[in-house]
Amino acid sequence: MEKKLQDAFNEQIKNELYSGYLYLSMSACLDNAGLRGFARWMKAQANEEYSHAMKLYDHMRERGARILLGAIDRPPADFSSALEVFQKTLAHEKQVTAMITDLYNLANSLNDAAASIALQWFVKEQVEEESTASGIVERLSMIKDKTDAMFILDTELGKRE
Ligand SMILES: [Fe+2]
Ligand SMILES: [Fe+2]
Repeated sequence: MEKKLQDAFNEQIKNELYSGYLYLSMSACLDNAGLRGFARWMKAQANEEYSHAMKLYDHMRERGARILLGAIDRPPADFSSALEVFQKTLAHEKQVTAMITDLYNLANSLNDAAASIALQWFVKEQVEEESTASGIVERLSMIKDKTDAMFILDTELGKRE
């Protein structure tokens, strides 16, 4: 793997781990607010981010690339509502999509077919991530302050494995 691409992969491993850290912080906040189902959903999302980091890690490992882990920033800890949490999740996933697109374009420009193919999985995954987050934002926007509807959504999201 070319050095430039290795650096970019290392950077994205860190970004995926930060995503997990951010979602874990959101999960803790949702738990404190008594929204156990939302919290469970967000904790599962945090675990998924770890698996994204490992996909990149394993790609580098299998190719004998130099894995260098960077420092992960402290995530925000205060959110005023579930709606704010999911709006921030959607905004964050849009940023991640831009990062993945840059990484994919870099792999292509360096003619690294193996990396391009590995990154195609991430390109598709980002479509799902944005769609899921925006679906929850839409529903929370409709719910507003209706507690009963909020509990129904909390129960539904709590079913995530
Ligand atoms: Fe991710
Ligand atoms: Fe996902």
